[in-house]
Amino acid sequence: MNHQPYSRRREIVLERLGDGVAIVPTAPEKLRNRDAHYPYRFDSYFWYLSGFPEPEAAIVLVGGKEARSILFCRERDEAREVWDGFRYGPETAAEAFGFSEAHPIGTLEEKLPDLIANRGSLWHSLGHEPAWDRRIAAALNTVRANSRSGARAPGEIRDLRALLDEMRLIKDAHEIDLMRRAADIASAGHARAMHACRPGMAEHELEAELGYEFRRRGADGHAYPPIVAGGSNACILHYVANNRLLAGSSLVLIDAGCELAGYASDITRTFPINGRFSAEQRTVYEIVLAAQEAAIAAIVPGASFMDYHHAALRVLVQGLIDLGLLSGSVDGAIESDAYKPWYMHRTGHWLGLDVHDVGDYRSGNGNEEWTRLAPGMTLTVEPGLYFRPGANVPDHLHGIGVRIEDDVLVSEGGCRVYTSAPKTVAEIEEVMRHD
Ligand code: GLY
Ligand code: MN
Ligand code: MN
Repeated sequence: MNHQPYSRRREIVLERLGDGVAIVPTAPEKLRNRDAHYPYRFDSYFWYLSGFPEPEAAIVLVGGKEARSILFCRERDEAREVWDGFRYGPETAAEAFGFSEAHPIGTLEEKLPDLIANRGSLWHSLGHEPAWDRRIAAALNTVRANSRSGARAPGEIRDLRALLDEMRLIKDAHEIDLMRRAADIASAGHARAMHACRPGMAEHELEAELGYEFRRRGADGHAYPPIVAGGSNACILHYVANNRLLAGSSLVLIDAGCELAGYASDITRTFPINGRFSAEQRTVYEIVLAAQEAAIAAIVPGASFMDYHHAALRVLVQGLIDLGLLSGSVDGAIESDAYKPWYMHRTGHWLGLDVHDVGDYRSGNGNEEWTRLAPGMTLTVEPGLYFRPGANVPDHLHGIGVRIEDDVLVSEGGCRVYTSAPKTVAEIEEVMRHD
């Protein structure tokens, strides 16, 4: 375990805290049914500052002259470890994860009042986890009850998310490396699904191909519920049933990404189930691809977060005019939202530890300005067109839903697309050839 990237982030937070104290708990385990739990997923903020994988843990960062980073975690327990596996225990964890000290999680409640007393501010993600809100309120009350002995409760409660979200928006070298690896694995998963696809298969069979490739290459699993949507299911934006048969003459849309060491990739590909695009499918596909290319070209440092959406939108709207679905000018159709029956989502989002990652989309005093892109930001580019049956489209377009999604890193001079699944018509048809 190289704890350096995580310790460095804690040091940055400690500097920004001044004489404040911050509390960052990890996520609780969640029961699924009876004795079975959901697969455990740590809290993203906690992970960002620790790389520590166990549940029942919290970080306390004490700023000021004698700054300390403290980990609270489970103790070693031979009997429990027989059932559930290895636990670091405080002593080993402090060393392995680079904390100044570590204590059993059971002692947190007793130690918390002393840790927060006489600090200028207390930083916490209020409302994130009600059990922790209660614990922290109780610690504050304990300090207040001791005021006669000279203890003072922090005068200011601040939202730690504001500080951490700003940091997480700009990825450091360690994060970029993990995100590239997550992207490589997801790209291989999509290529595998394309190659395996045959008319008559079921959507869940393609889902299995992706899952197999993700796990085979060491990813933790899916970063979000995968969408494998044949035919008009592609027009249901959050389709996750993945249980229908794939009709030979249709397209299938797959939106799937893996998680690696906490980091998400997020890729969408749309391809013909029989391996060859029909003329209509190809026309729509090329419009979406051109929209994606225009969006990518608009991702440069200093551009606003909305610029690349507008770049994609202009190409999509021109395509809708060419298809005879819209009339008038591109500007007019954008102004009147006339395109919305067929393109109803934004062109992307921040990506990182969370698939829809943290970070402000708007900034400025009155929140009036879209965030400006800067090197180190990672975001998705995912234009699409969706022609639901009945959505006011001619028969030959019915049921065609296309989205193309890649992940990009804003760089000094522009951006780098770091996902690499087959994407052009020629590349897709080549991967799908079976002769
Ligand atoms: N897979 C979630 C998204 O594309 O936003
Ligand atoms: Mn996606
Ligand atoms: Mn996405």
